[in-house]
Amino acid sequence: MKTYLVTGAAGFIGSNFVKYILDKYGDNIEVIILDALTYAGNLASIKNELELPNVTFIRGDVGDRELVQRIMRDNDVDYIVNFAAESHVDRSITNPRLFLETNILGTQNMLDCARDAWFTGKDAQGHNTYAPGKKYLQISTDEVYGSLAKDFDEPQPLELGDDVREVIEGRTDLKTYGRHFFTEETPLAPRSPYSASKTSADLITMAYHETYGLPVNITRCSNNYGPYHFPEKLIPLIIKNILEGKKLPVYGKGENVRDWLYVEDHCKGIDLVLRQGTVGEVYNIGGFNEESNINIVKQVIAIIARIMREEPEYQQLLKCSVDDINDGLIEFVTDRPGHDMRYAIDPSKIARELGWYPETPFTVGIEKTIRWNLDHQPWVNSVTSGDYQRYYEEMYGNR
Ligand code: NAD
Ligand code: TYD
Repeated sequence: MKTYLVTGAAGFIGSNFVKYILDKYGDNIEVIILDALTYAGNLASIKNELELPNVTFIRGDVGDRELVQRIMRDNDVDYIVNFAAESHVDRSITNPRLFLETNILGTQNMLDCARDAWFTGKDAQGHNTYAPGKKYLQISTDEVYGSLAKDFDEPQPLELGDDVREVIEGRTDLKTYGRHFFTEETPLAPRSPYSASKTSADLITMAYHETYGLPVNITRCSNNYGPYHFPEKLIPLIIKNILEGKKLPVYGKGENVRDWLYVEDHCKGIDLVLRQGTVGEVYNIGGFNEESNINIVKQVIAIIARIMREEPEYQQLLKCSVDDINDGLIEFVTDRPGHDMRYAIDPSKIARELGWYPETPFTVGIEKTIRWNLDHQPWVNSVTSGDYQRYYEEMYGNR
């Protein structure tokens, strides 16, 4: 029986992770969720899970020392998975301080409480020892590596070594916009307040491993997409706006490239690292799905238009006519300051060492994501009432 303390599990990836482990391990695990329920945290995302006897929800801040100490004292926690963070680059540009508080100091507090709770003494060399089987996993991002060049306007076939190719069954759609990729050895070079705060969190996590011997891993993933994604991020925002017949704000010329990772693939990778990853190692988790923003937006438009025509029962969700769903909705708006051009993860290490690869091609994942959104409009409406309207006006009103 393993006990997971999952922070930020009322958010996008954390809620998917909790569903994934409960599906996989059922009542053979205990799950404690710690979440402050900021604008990004929604209990509606984990409604069914909260009813299970082996799930406990605690509302609170990862930076609250007394609270986290109490949770660690009252429970024999085996795994801490720290998803909790301020996660939106655009918000970090308007309010950097909150990002440093939550993402850096919150992480340091979680590490400190883990160290205190798991500490068992000193070995013959005077090094700290910890209770066996414990692990702290920091969920990080590829944005810590900074920005890559976009070398090709049109994507080129992606070359892979034979050893990685062997693991990556069934993915024949691999392409790239550049010659270089983020590996675990790529120097850290964050460029936004968000990525700088995540980099600092990674450094303090590694410092706890090197200095105190704390058993840790770090995973650095690319852009996730899938169910329960808050519509301030590109894909869910575009889906929401299309249904409302609103303009689709594309920053700059839409040429920036992201590597899209289906959230369920990510969750599988996280649990694998937690259970089988070598202590002290960093693992990159990417989607092998590089795409430019403009192509993403055009694909989403085309899929929604097709679904609306083929399955007219969905047209009741539209606040516009099906004929309005076309590229004319795209509006190029002022670019994000310091906008990173391209992210592309090389996930060879996790493929070779743990046999993981991103199973979901973008064409499959994006259709699933759009259909999930169409079928869960009450969830979308519940998370975008109130503050969201003000946020949207502030962020896009004068752009
Ligand atoms: P999210 O914004 O959807 O959710 C964050 C969650 O953390 C929310 O439930 C929020 O209430 C909670 N939270 C915020 N501050 C807190 C605090 N002080 N104490 C406790 N809880 C707090 O984020 P997400 O997209 O699910 O991302 C999860 C993690 O993955 C983050 O660490 C993020 O940096 C990382 N990540 C995300 C992506 C992505 O594409 N979404 C990509 C790379 C890395
Ligand atoms: P986002 O989903 O915010 O993720 P990140 O900034 O962490 O990569 O943005 C993905 C890409 O889409 C990024 O290049 C910025 C761009 N973008 C837009 O063009 N318009 C939008 O309204 C948003 C939110 C993002």
